[in-house]
Amino acid sequence: MRRKGFFVSIEGGEKAGKTTQAALLADRLRQQGFDTLVTREPGGTATGEAIRSILLHSEDHGLTAVSEALLFAASRGQLVAEVIGPALEAGKVVVADRYVDSSLAYQGIALSLPFEKVMAVNEWATGGLWPDLTVLLDCPDPATAAGRPRKGEADRIEKRQEDFHRRVAEGFRQLALQDPQRYVVVDASLPTDEVAEIIGSAVYGRITGKEVPGR
Ligand code: TYD
Repeated sequence: MRRKGFFVSIEGGEKAGKTTQAALLADRLRQQGFDTLVTREPGGTATGEAIRSILLHSEDHGLTAVSEALLFAASRGQLVAEVIGPALEAGKVVVADRYVDSSLAYQGIALSLPFEKVMAVNEWATGGLWPDLTVLLDCPDPATAAGRPRKGEADRIEKRQEDFHRRVAEGFRQLALQDPQRYVVVDASLPTDEVAEIIGSAVYGRITGKEVPGR
């Protein structure tokens, strides 16, 4: 796929502030004149929303780890085909609240599925579309983050043990170390506006090759 736009994903564990930061980044990019779209995973298409409800709310269905990985990849494939791919073709900036790295960290590393297989199904599902830049909101202590107030009840994956969420956080750090060109790691325990500033500057710099004006 030849892309004219710019693709940034925001990754991290539970309640690292990804959704807030994705919205703040999108506002900032729009103010800078970029046509910007935010997506979230799993979901974002009719098929993806149906898959989301199986993944997050079907406690009693005995979903296997492999089915879980395949369903995340399927939802992602739909999102690329229906939303992300066309937006990039049209020259937009796409801000994804989670993308392939979530599957690598949660299913590949924390659930211990064969990493190459998780990678392969995701390459297949997305047609090999990788973000230009990935922001990792790194929680120094995922257990503290997990204790932050939540809006609704915990979903099937959030309910997993503390140790699972530590492996997720460690998994993301490994992924960032392996791909330092693509990743920007930000300490998620900093104040929200500081985190937004760091992300905004990094993204602007990468899109334009310049520093933010006036800085
Ligand atoms: P969501 O309610 O969107 O939470 P969050 O705000 O943390 O993104 O739930 C998504 C859940 O699915 C979350 O626990 C992370 C998990 N997940 C995976 O395990 N693998 C994946 O590939 C993705 C995209 C999400």
